[in-house]
Amino acid sequence: MSNNIINVAIDGPAGAGKSTVSRAAAKAVGYIYVDTGALYRAVGVNALRKGIDTKDKLSVAATLSEISVDLVFENGEQKVLLNGEDVSFEIRTPPASMAASDVSAVPEVRAFLFDLQRDIAARNNCIMDGRDIGTVVLPDAKVKIFLTASPEERAMRRYKELIEKGSKVEYKEVLEDLIQRDYNDSHREIAPLKPAQDGVILDTTGLNLEQSVNEIIRIIKEKI
Ligand code: DC
Repeated sequence: MSNNIINVAIDGPAGAGKSTVSRAAAKAVGYIYVDTGALYRAVGVNALRKGIDTKDKLSVAATLSEISVDLVFENGEQKVLLNGEDVSFEIRTPPASMAASDVSAVPEVRAFLFDLQRDIAARNNCIMDGRDIGTVVLPDAKVKIFLTASPEERAMRRYKELIEKGSKVEYKEVLEDLIQRDYNDSHREIAPLKPAQDGVILDTTGLNLEQSVNEIIRIIKEKI
C-alpha cells in the first residue's frame, strides 16, 4: 500500500449506523466511502435467486465460479454490480440481509471478495466499513474504529429506515433478526466481528447522527 494513501477502517455490528456515519464522514474529509457489506449481500442475492439454501456452505461456494461482483463509484456513490447488473436496491431487503450474513461465514466467499476490497483501498483514500476491515482486510489501516450501539437502539434505527422505505416490518422482528445476525457475525469461525486491538471503540448509543459523524471526524483527524 502506498504511504500517501489513507485508509480508515470502520467495523461494527449490524445497524450501528456504520454506513450513514461513514458516508457523511467520508464526504467531510474528501475520501471515498466503501460499503463492503454490499459485496456479501450481492453474493447472498445471487444464492437467493438461484434458490440455494444460504446455510449450505458447499452450495454457496459452488456459486462463486459463475459470478462476478464489482463496485463502481459514480459521483462518490457506490453501486454494486452482480454479473454487471446493478443490484444496489435488491440487496437491501431483510431476506438479503440474512442471506448476506449466512454467506459471509463461508471461507471461499470471504477469499473471493478479499482482493477486490484490498485493491480499492490500495488506490483510494477511503473510509471502508464492514466487520473485519481493521482486523483482516486492512490490518495496516491508519485509523480503525469499532462503531457500536445497544441492540435496541440499533434495531430501532433499522426499523425506522425500513419503514421509511415502505417496508412492512415489525420492530420485534427487526430486533430478533439483528440479534441473530450479531450472533452469526461474531461467532463464525472465520474473520468474526470483533474490535481491532489497536482500534478505537465508539459507542453511539444516545448520540445522534451529527454527533456520531463529528466523533468519527475527530478520531480521524487525531490519527492522521
Ligand atoms: O454491513 P451489512 O449489514 O450490509 O453486512 C451484511 C452482512 O455481511 C453482515 O451480516 C455480515 C457480512 N459482512 C462481513 O462478514 N464482512 C464485512 N466486511 C461486511 C459484511
